Amino acid sequence: MGFPRGRLLWLLLLLAAACSGILFVLHISAEERSPGSRSGARGILSPTAFFQLKTLNSQTRKNQSCQHPLHLAIRQHRHFRNLFDLSTPVLLWGGLLTPELWDSLSRHKGPYSWQGLSHQDIVSTLRLLNSSESARLFAAPRKSPPTCIRCAVVGNGGILNGSRQGQKIDTHDYVFRLNGAVIKGFEQDVGTKTSFYGFTVNTMKNSLISYQHLGFTSVPQGQDLRYIFIPSSIREYLMLRSAILGVPVPKGPDKGDRPDTYFGPEASASKFKLLHPDFIGYLTERFLKSKLINTNFGNVYMPSTGALMLLTALHTCDQVSAYGFITSNYRKYSDHYFEREMKPLIFYVNHDLRLEAALWRKLHKAGILWLYQR
Ligand SMILES: *[C@@H]1O[C@H](CO)[C@@H](O)[C@H](O)[C@H]1NC(C)=O
Ligand SMILES: *[C@@H]1O[C@H](CO)[C@@H](O)[C@H](O)[C@H]1NC(C)=O
Ligand SMILES: *[C@@H]1O[C@H](CO)[C@@H](O)[C@H](O)[C@H]1NC(C)=O
Repeated sequence: MGFPRGRLLWLLLLLAAACSGILFVLHISAEERSPGSRSGARGILSPTAFFQLKTLNSQTRKNQSCQHPLHLAIRQHRHFRNLFDLSTPVLLWGGLLTPELWDSLSRHKGPYSWQGLSHQDIVSTLRLLNSSESARLFAAPRKSPPTCIRCAVVGNGGILNGSRQGQKIDTHDYVFRLNGAVIKGFEQDVGTKTSFYGFTVNTMKNSLISYQHLGFTSVPQGQDLRYIFIPSSIREYLMLRSAILGVPVPKGPDKGDRPDTYFGPEASASKFKLLHPDFIGYLTERFLKSKLINTNFGNVYMPSTGALMLLTALHTCDQVSAYGFITSNYRKYSDHYFEREMKPLIFYVNHDLRLEAALWRKLHKAGILWLYQR
């Protein structure tokens, strides 16, 4: 006993219509989550664009859905839903520079504030980040925008030595790396793809000095690679401006440095992104409010580079996997995956790695990220 043929056909048609409707709604909600829309850079879709999106959607339907979209996991979690504000701007660019922002950031405390920094240096840098591309982490898609942006953030933890996670890491849409991210010789464990490299000028240059003998002889470079500057002092603004202009750094501790020796010859504003100091403040306040803040180390305390990259991914991607981040059994592993001899992890006073470890554990348990453990 089946349905009469006509009715079955109608049911199928209805189902198909409902599916494409659902896909379109999913599509729109993912659009809302992209950083561009947060800064108001994205306009309302024209009818043509609407039609194009719909057709592209049906072509790429199989790849549309997110198995575990993190914004749903956040919404379902009693604690984390009150912490996450996915509408907060992640990147700073010229369009966000107002006298109010200058006032508030130059009165702020913390290593990422503008207290004591030159107005001229900040403004002349931000003026170069004047296109809406500087407001977005991910390039505007040429084809259909994916509704599920899958990101891997690769920390440098010893847990990755012998992990054989390289292929899995490379299947993600975007791969974030940071500081002394040695790839050569570790491809099987850490993969080869790099979409974003995050750093402060200090951590980048220290990594080049400290890990050169372990294979970190240059910062990852590549045509599709983007650099994420973490503004922890005036050095980032000066280096960023010089990188875009293609000139040596004019002053400060990095005076005379040629940015192309770090980032390669391609100098364009779209190659460089700048984390918003208020975003770092928000992350510190809500996710990593360490007891160190109320000690003598309060003015040097900041989340680690890895933490900032992972939290950046959590505020821009739809699914996030974290590799090489500190786990509860960190004592079993060396400080970094690229060390030749076992070296215990050192806890410095400018970071709170125990607090970070607890946060990754909780986010993993909440299904908001997936943390590689073994
Ligand atoms: C969909 O994903 C598969 C593998 O995940 C890939 O091979 C294929 O090219 C993708 N299709 C489109 C249209 O992006
Ligand atoms: C953005 O800045 C660049 C470099 O200063 C300049 O050439 C360009 O005209 C500016 N674009 C806009 C839209 O202001
Ligand atoms: C990396 O792993 C190999 C075997 O998997 C081991 O022999 C070596 O000691 C490890 N290196 C460090 C620094 O722990």
